[in-house]
Amino acid sequence: MGDNALMSDVLELADVSVLREGRALVDQVSWSVKEGERWVILGPNGAGKTTLLNVASSYLFPSKGTVAILGEQLGKVDVFELRPRIGVAGIAIAEKLPRRQTVLQTVLTAAYGMTAGWHESYDAIDEQRARAFLDRLGMNDYLDRRFGTLSEGERKRTLIARALMSDPELLLLDEPAAGLDLGGREDLVRRLGRLASDPAAPSMIMVTHHVEEIAPGFTHVLMIRQGKVLAAGPLEIELTSRNLSRCFGLPLVVEQSGDRWTARGLPMA
Ligand SMILES: Nc1ncnc2c1ncn2[C@@H]1O[C@H](COP(=O)(O)OP(=O)(O)OP(=O)(O)O)[C@@H](O)[C@H]1O
Ligand SMILES: [Mg+2]
Repeated sequence: MGDNALMSDVLELADVSVLREGRALVDQVSWSVKEGERWVILGPNGAGKTTLLNVASSYLFPSKGTVAILGEQLGKVDVFELRPRIGVAGIAIAEKLPRRQTVLQTVLTAAYGMTAGWHESYDAIDEQRARAFLDRLGMNDYLDRRFGTLSEGERKRTLIARALMSDPELLLLDEPAAGLDLGGREDLVRRLGRLASDPAAPSMIMVTHHVEEIAPGFTHVLMIRQGKVLAAGPLEIELTSRNLSRCFGLPLVVEQSGDRWTARGLPMA
């Protein structure tokens, strides 16, 4: 970390827009993530959450505005040097991974920034790390299973282990709990909670549709609707019934019980 205050910024978006076919998918978003913060992005289908994550992972260059990731400004930095510092787990990546590769290989190849390939030359150290991450995600019994045969939940946990493999400074998770059953969700939330509460873990940004999926240890929320920021700040302040109702466009009541959140619609009058 340097003297410059900007250096402690994990992510700094200033007036960022992503325009496609005359439409703003992301609309003048200014947002800053500081070291140690764990953010949740909430918003309805089509709000621009995944598009925003693609910007944050340096895979999408915005039409307008400036983006700094881990202190490096997009457009000025070699993204191939930046990308290994960012761990991404989302559906788009799962689709690119070879289905016949084993779970262990799937995680191990991330160390080399590859989506395929198996070499004799993998370090014993790397293999140890891959096994440790898979263990942490509860995937110990699946090391030799082919990636393509995994259930939704097993696949998600493998992807998170894979994203951690490059020892990223920033971890981006796009709907990690989507498609999981109740037990699977609770298990993942618990594991993400442990990760979020670990001071040595990377900065985290997680996209979700459900406040029930916000793990303990997450600190901030960004709410977006139609590409625009509706609210951004600490969960305790911004995750209110009023904000959530505006975000999803219907009357909602949000409650915090212990270190978890719930939301439900108001009964019809
Ligand atoms: N390349 C593109 N060209 C035109 N429109 C696009 C393109 N990519 C995405 N969109 C549109 O941009 C909007 C935002 O998409 P995005 O995937 O970011 O939404 P999201 O908030 O992640 O939604 P979901 O909750 O369904 O995953 C959607 O209406 C989508 O159809
Ligand atoms: Mg999405």
